[in-house]
Amino acid sequence: MADTQVLVASNRGPVSFSLADDGALSMRRGGGGLVSALAELDGDILWVCATLSDADRTAARRATEGRLDVPGIGAVRMLDIPAGTFHRAYNAVANSTLWFVHHMLYDTPNKPLFDARSRRDWQSYEAYNAAFADALAQDAAPGSKVAVQDYHLTLVPTLLRERRPDVKITHFSHTPWAPPEYYRLLPDDIGNQVLEGILGADHAGFQTLRWAEAFLDCCAEILGADVDRAARTVTHQGHVTRVGVHGLGVDGDALRARAAEPDVTARAAALREQVGDRRLIVRIDRTELSKNIVRGLAAYRELLAKHPEWHGRVVHLAFAYPSRHDLPEYREYTAAVQRIAAEISDEFGDGTWDPLILQVNDDYPRSLAAYGLADVLLVNPIRDGMNLVAKEGPTLSKNGCALVLSDQAGAADEMSGDAIMVNPFDVSQTAEALHRALLMPADERAERRKRLAAVATALPPQRWFADQLAALG
Ligand code: G6P
Repeated sequence: MADTQVLVASNRGPVSFSLADDGALSMRRGGGGLVSALAELDGDILWVCATLSDADRTAARRATEGRLDVPGIGAVRMLDIPAGTFHRAYNAVANSTLWFVHHMLYDTPNKPLFDARSRRDWQSYEAYNAAFADALAQDAAPGSKVAVQDYHLTLVPTLLRERRPDVKITHFSHTPWAPPEYYRLLPDDIGNQVLEGILGADHAGFQTLRWAEAFLDCCAEILGADVDRAARTVTHQGHVTRVGVHGLGVDGDALRARAAEPDVTARAAALREQVGDRRLIVRIDRTELSKNIVRGLAAYRELLAKHPEWHGRVVHLAFAYPSRHDLPEYREYTAAVQRIAAEISDEFGDGTWDPLILQVNDDYPRSLAAYGLADVLLVNPIRDGMNLVAKEGPTLSKNGCALVLSDQAGAADEMSGDAIMVNPFDVSQTAEALHRALLMPADERAERRKRLAAVATALPPQRWFADQLAALG
């Protein structure tokens, strides 16, 4: 059905399904910037995504002509990719390899290791990317614009161009991009294919100039492509790709409206009841290695050890969303987070005061409530494409917001003027930053919050997406 003018491709789509015992499917709409960006768009859109579970696969098979009509979004096509292929593409290649490279997460004496099995995993990644390219090629109207998202789909631009030279393609990397010396961990056959895959696009977008420049460096040094740094273009095998910087922000009005709903205000009241009038340090993450939760908790422990004046006067809320638990590294990491949290509660809790509340579950309204109450927000990733927590927090904070921010988050490029910056590996510095943040006078916090919120909402998802389509001409 070649009738669509704007197509989006991403691994995770806007909806997911669960299957009841009686075979009934229920649909759940996801959050995230991309969903809100597309919810606002006028016109005919098709979102192509993978099926992530058996329930999703059932929904895809039952959908008329493979398309679901999702209220508020438009047409969604979920690709019925065989479970084994999906597992190898998503877990083994995208999340265990490409994510680790771009976030520089490898513990190199042990990993990575590329052997015959990795090559089989890679073939699944190729097959999974080809399934997306086939679906997009089939559904795109002549001259359509196609917006391909992230490290799962790096091969799609070139595969789609081969099938449909008439469509305009943009690829956006939500992650950091590794510098060439780290990117070279990838064997040539894999690393080159990823770069050449993205270079099939007319436009390649990144969250910050730093990641865009790392990509240009890889194209020049590894592929030997012709890179024009001033114009930010890469010419490779006769095709020109323009590289753009589009730092994703949040939709302030929509976020504030959501935070005013009763499920959020009820959670805020319950949290306030639980912590009393104590000061609150808040962090919100996926249970993700790159988020650096263990060092963040170690910094809180050092704060309590060095500054006993805070005992009984501060509570750390650490809310974490379970993530990627098919991977052993993630399960181990979550256990390590829980271990250090229990140690802190044992060491400092005194029966009347619990210094730390860690919750690992999925509760978006609770996160919004916590932003509203936070005195200090800690965002200390090892490396992060942007980090939207750093933007949501100041947008919703009611107490002013002292933001302690890692200099390795993409958000640092925009927010370093009003955040307290830290090296994410320096636990002592982070502990002192938390202390300074707690001591920051209320009027200064309020001033900084205002400026941080202005930056956070400067490029809301709708405009972020529209800019990328506009970059295709
Ligand atoms: C990051 C990636 C997204 C991904 C999200 C959640 O933000 O850039 O592409 O969807 O993490 O990860 P998951 O593996 O659960 O989709």
